[in-house]
Amino acid sequence: MNDKQLVALHAAKHVKHDMLVGLGTGSTANYFIEELARLAREEHLKLTTVASSTISAQKAQSLNLPIVALEHISSIDLYVDGADEITPDKTLLKGRGSDLVKEKLLAKAARQFIAVADASKLVTHIGENFAIPIEVIPFAWQLAKKSLDQIGAVGGLRPNAAKDGYWVTSHGSYVLDMKFAENTDAKELNALINNIPGVVEHGIFHNLADIVLIARDGRVTEQ
Ligand code: A5P
Repeated sequence: MNDKQLVALHAAKHVKHDMLVGLGTGSTANYFIEELARLAREEHLKLTTVASSTISAQKAQSLNLPIVALEHISSIDLYVDGADEITPDKTLLKGRGSDLVKEKLLAKAARQFIAVADASKLVTHIGENFAIPIEVIPFAWQLAKKSLDQIGAVGGLRPNAAKDGYWVTSHGSYVLDMKFAENTDAKELNALINNIPGVVEHGIFHNLADIVLIARDGRVTEQ
């Protein structure tokens, strides 16, 4: 068993009967979805799920997990998702995929949000390994980028996979992948980016994760 699978199985121990559980997106979240399906099948665990992306919804459906649409919920019991970076104060960077908006909505709506990752995701500051993904309304991208330039960010629109156009999220937004100075505080950055017109959402998840579980060499620890 690899570390991503191990940490996902550990998070699944928090799932109880009749819970409404949010499903994250990515390879670690996939292991969690598979474990939920096993618990439902083999241990008759009753639960309902809500997905942060079409791909996770399809996975849940293919495994016969009951699923409801995001617009039909006002809160959830538990959300389990991976991350791209995790700092010691449990701030996360997310959004390498196309579903930042749904991921943050579920993280906020959850009574408990458990972030799960292997040790490769641990960083000292947000932005260490990746640019910060900032979803923008397509017609606003240039004005939003100007505001970001003014607070010292460097970067531009994320290209699509074929590199013949720009990446479009499941929400229909463009993504600006922006780098900030190393010493910029994530909490401050969170507030600054939230304040820019045209920004739909961004990848800094500050003050949202309740528990961070990290697997390293076959052992899981809580951050
Ligand atoms: C999706 O948008 C991201 O926020 C993922 O949670 C992240 O990329 C984690 O992916 P892995 O679990 O595959 O590392």
